[in-house]
Amino acid sequence: MNMSKDASLERYYGFREVVGCTTAPQAALMAYFLKALNDTGVRGDVLEIGVYRGRSSMLFGLYLHGRRRLHLVDPGLKGDVLEELTRNLTDIAPSMDFERDVIIDMRMSQELQYDYAVQNRGQYAFIHIDGGHSMLDVYRDLQQAEKMLGEKGIVICDDFFAAGRPAVTEGVYKYLHDHPGVFKILLTGYNKAVLARADRYEEWWVRIINSLGEYLESNWRPVQIHLYNSPLEFPTLGLSERTKEQCPFGGYFEREESHALIAALSKAVGAQGNK
Ligand SMILES: C[S@@+](CC[C@H](N)C(=O)[O-])C[C@H]1O[C@@H](n2cnc3c(N)ncnc32)[C@H](O)[C@@H]1O
Repeated sequence: MNMSKDASLERYYGFREVVGCTTAPQAALMAYFLKALNDTGVRGDVLEIGVYRGRSSMLFGLYLHGRRRLHLVDPGLKGDVLEELTRNLTDIAPSMDFERDVIIDMRMSQELQYDYAVQNRGQYAFIHIDGGHSMLDVYRDLQQAEKMLGEKGIVICDDFFAAGRPAVTEGVYKYLHDHPGVFKILLTGYNKAVLARADRYEEWWVRIINSLGEYLESNWRPVQIHLYNSPLEFPTLGLSERTKEQCPFGGYFEREESHALIAALSKAVGAQGNK
């Protein structure tokens, strides 16, 4: 993965005036995973639950390369809001064919079991959950994601550990507790929880440890990557911003010891599996 400046993300940063809930570091973190999926040839649709005026959908539109569809689910997608969303998406990604590539879905996410989503089960490469913020909303959206996500895909939940939205964190952990072995949290940071299918976390961790720090340093700010045990005792990586004095890996790990961090993760995962 090329860790220099990401031209698509630079373009996204230029569209500051669009009203919405996605911050620059959140965009950088999501762009890293969108780019990684593209670089590794993982094809599949992109789903967003909770679109509003498209502040986050615009980022997804930039990384949607051919043969994929952007499926946007939000009951608010009508009238002025829909017009603004359409304008925002066509401005940022003019090469995108809106009619062909974008599905405007004005339903609540709970209704996603119908039609397109059903026919395309397991076909989604990237799912962003930012719709209803109650525990049950998030829990159900993860149940949907479980059916829709492809083998190598990524799910990102917004507002994870956001002070004003405690039910989101509760919904994620309750889902993980009730469905062991489906998804694992790979990484948390900037109020995002990044999840992958449980049998894919090791390869994602190797990629994250080897390249996420450099990507974010080139495209946002230096970060420190930590290893922690989540409330469910599963090892997870966490991100925080890094000052010049700090090393890229928190705890006991230095950059040149990233292989040790990977080994520590694998060991911890092995121990978890043996419980
Ligand atoms: C926080 S906003 C989304 C912000 C957007 N992702 C951004 O970056 O600007 C939440 C949106 O979720 C929608 N929403 C709420 N409950 C929903 C549900 N059950 N299914 C789909 N969308 C939902 C709301 O209409 C609202 O537009």
